Amino acid sequence: MLKKALRALPVALAVAAVAGTSAAQAPEDVLQALIDKHESAYLTQSPQNLMMMPDNPAYDLIEQGEALFKQARGPKNASLEKCDLGKGPGVVKGAYVELPRYFADTRQVMDLESRLVYCMKTLQGFTDDDPAIKKRHGSDSDMMKLQTYIGSQSNGMPWNPPMKHPMEKAMRNAGEVMFYRRSGPMDFNCATCHAQTGKRIRASVLPNVNVPEEWTKAISWPAHRVSHDHARSSQHRVLECLWQMRYPNIKPGSDASIALISFWTDAARGQPAIVPDLKR
Ligand code: HEC
Repeated sequence: MLKKALRALPVALAVAAVAGTSAAQAPEDVLQALIDKHESAYLTQSPQNLMMMPDNPAYDLIEQGEALFKQARGPKNASLEKCDLGKGPGVVKGAYVELPRYFADTRQVMDLESRLVYCMKTLQGFTDDDPAIKKRHGSDSDMMKLQTYIGSQSNGMPWNPPMKHPMEKAMRNAGEVMFYRRSGPMDFNCATCHAQTGKRIRASVLPNVNVPEEWTKAISWPAHRVSHDHARSSQHRVLECLWQMRYPNIKPGSDASIALISFWTDAARGQPAIVPDLKR
């Protein structure tokens, strides 16, 4: 019990700091509120996962990620505190639910991972070959710690990716085409598995892109995946689903990966982010 309480403490504090109220919700509360409002076999498929959420191992990454974010590192010996994630240099609170977005300095629509890599290169001087950038996956990677910290600062906030700039609309629309275009050796599209309510693969209930109340959990990454015993990112999920479709591996940070993430975030618009989440 004590361990559980101690684990939950940093996230409760982090979440309270985000919302600026004492009634701030932990990710498990955000999910529970959704379940109370909306009946969904996807949201409730694993009572065990729901019970484990207050002990989510990803909660440990929030603190580690915050320390990394604020630490002077890399060849330029700088922290990430001047990183502009879209809401101004150093603004982390609420930044994640407004990604992907267009950045004038790179003239690109960027998701959390690609923007973070950009900041680590420009502010800290890391290069593609440095482990801090090269190692994208696994709970022990800087990338997952940083993403979990930044993501957690949007927990409970509604997804609201901006759609004003033509590039933002173009990327979202390209993602929609990719989601519904059948191709590959199995002639799958994303909708084959993600456009019906209650569809299953073995025991897994698959989320429906047309139901924002359940789709918000689907896109809530970073999440600790119990079956992998690691926190995983949005980019990792894109890679995995395309792999399931027998596509070649997608390049991390490629426009195609960001387009899919733009479309899937827009599809959850208005529903609260659950970050970090715990998934199968
Ligand atoms: C062959 C079926 C299949 C196809 C096609 C497919 N997925 Fe998935 N998707 C899955 C399965 C299985 C999971 C994991 C569910 C689990 O582990 O319980 C999943 C999980 C997800 C999740 C996270 C939800 C979760 O609970 O883990 C997202 C988001 C997602 N897919 C998006 C996509 C996108 C985008 C595409 C197209 C590029 C796609 N999927 C294509 C089967 C598919």
